Amino acid sequence: MGFTRARNAVLAAGMIVGLSSCQTNPPQEALKPLPPFAAISADDQHATMHRGMNILGADPIWRDPAGARFHPEHFGRLRDAGFDTVRINLHAFAHTDASGAIDPAWFATLDRLLNTALYDGLTVILDEHDDIPCERDIAACGPRLQTVWDQLARRYKDYPNRLVFEMLNEPHGKLTADVWNAMLRQILAVIRASNPERNVIIGPSGWTSIDQLATFDLPEDDRHIIATVHYYWPMRFTHQGAFWVQETANLSGVTWGSDAEIANLNKDFDGVKAWGDAHHRPIFLGEFGAYEKGDMNSRVRYISAVARAAEAHGFSWAYWQFDSDFIAYDMSRDDWVGPIRRALAPQ
Ligand code: BGC
Repeated sequence: MGFTRARNAVLAAGMIVGLSSCQTNPPQEALKPLPPFAAISADDQHATMHRGMNILGADPIWRDPAGARFHPEHFGRLRDAGFDTVRINLHAFAHTDASGAIDPAWFATLDRLLNTALYDGLTVILDEHDDIPCERDIAACGPRLQTVWDQLARRYKDYPNRLVFEMLNEPHGKLTADVWNAMLRQILAVIRASNPERNVIIGPSGWTSIDQLATFDLPEDDRHIIATVHYYWPMRFTHQGAFWVQETANLSGVTWGSDAEIANLNKDFDGVKAWGDAHHRPIFLGEFGAYEKGDMNSRVRYISAVARAAEAHGFSWAYWQFDSDFIAYDMSRDDWVGPIRRALAPQ
């Protein structure tokens, strides 16, 4: 994204507590076991991902399952609305002890969510979303990521191939291109020790912005990689009024949808597609969206244009996000935000 931000803690603190107290446990004993892992190419995997949704990043469920806003039925709602993939935003660093071991209670919550999503036929991306703790301290970040991925990868190594790992959300700050290109190889080696053929999603440093693909260097001999980018351009439209982006926090009334803006979007995606073709990597657009402070008509034009342009360029995508902010789903009514859902997945 290339803008300064100070956000996750504030977003989490600002969450409204969920209204209902449904169980998070699916009746798993009544279900057939999930199929074992079977290797699938990155292209074949990507071809099944289609339309996706970012979920659970700021949900109280991780600390207190009884306070969950997201409930198992929401996986079914996503599926029924035409989504094939969920990108679960994990903040694992906050749930480790001094030795780096992940809290068993956190893992139990993740097991339940993961199993339910897979039973519901969704592709699940486990996205390690700890870019903020990583931005200032490489010496701490590298080993922490390796420890977390060692545990995640070993725990889920036999899970079906519809489970995909995403190494790190939006590397940035001290994770410069050179640092990240080296670090991603070390983390990949940790994942490959238990998951030699599972597809892994990795994006470039510099907030996974499309203009950073030029600096992105993936290991040529690992073909089980899907490349990812995020798209929030123009920031002055998508992040107007967003308190965590200094440069756009005070903007308002910015609209979107002129012919020139649509042409820019398509030109941007032509460049991404050219990179993917040249490197033989499928492209997953892992985040895009427009913050609530913008006017709804422009937001709908933007969201629909980005989703359709991604599809026309052969990218799978995931909208930012289901709940919390940029919402596609209104938890207070327990229903979709109609215009956003229709823009994303017209039926
Ligand atoms: C961040 C969120 C942020 C969003 C849009 C995501 O990658 O993790 O905190 O709200 O981008 O700015």
